Amino acid sequence: MNSPTTTPTRPLNTTSQVTFRTPEVTDGGALWMLARGAGELDVNTSYAYLLWARDFASTSIIAESGGLAAGFVSGYLRPEQPQTLMIWQVAVDQGFRGQGIALRMLHELTDRVTGATVLETTITDDNAASIGLFSRFAESRSAEIDRRDLFGKGHFPDAHDAERLYRIAPLR
Ligand SMILES: CC(C)(COP(=O)(O)OP(=O)(O)OC[C@H]1O[C@@H](n2cnc3c(N)ncnc32)[C@H](O)[C@@H]1OP(=O)(O)O)[C@@H](O)C(=O)NCCC(=O)NCCS
Repeated sequence: MNSPTTTPTRPLNTTSQVTFRTPEVTDGGALWMLARGAGELDVNTSYAYLLWARDFASTSIIAESGGLAAGFVSGYLRPEQPQTLMIWQVAVDQGFRGQGIALRMLHELTDRVTGATVLETTITDDNAASIGLFSRFAESRSAEIDRRDLFGKGHFPDAHDAERLYRIAPLR
């Protein structure tokens, strides 16, 4: 029996064209499923993803292939620094990894959010895929990465690892 915390297995997909678009409320469930199946992410409530798809759609993006949700990036403009695009989560379905989809989503989203000059995200030191992804993104935009401590283990009420801030600029 499938564990309730795993997404349905999808076939490896290397042929279908990938398209990118702004998420809608009806995509909220798919975002939650992708986050749940990603393995490394903090999985928030399904409600949070519906809310995100409604209120932060213009700073988020979904990738589709063959009618399936292949991945998403969720982000927001920081209220106190609206030129900073904060990336909250990036997930690509296991069957679609290694095809450049995450990198393309970051570029697509950055190109769409034209007012952003800085991109931020936080990464735990053990997430090699995420560190690799954002390093490749910065490199391909000829941007610098400034790394600094943000949320230490002591900030978290549970056993969460420290999250280091990655600040990537200039974006264009
Ligand atoms: C991280 C993740 C989004 C990458 O998705 P992806 O579509 O497979 O990534 P891409 O194919 O676009 O890879 C782009 C670059 O990221 C880096 N990268 C991707 N996966 C990597 C891995 N497992 N280890 C190290 N670097 C990796 C590489 O530099 C890669 O460029 P290259 O192939 O030219 O070397 C995906 O593995 C995932 O969903 N992981 C679980 C959730 C997560 O950790 N999200 C990030 C934190 S919010």
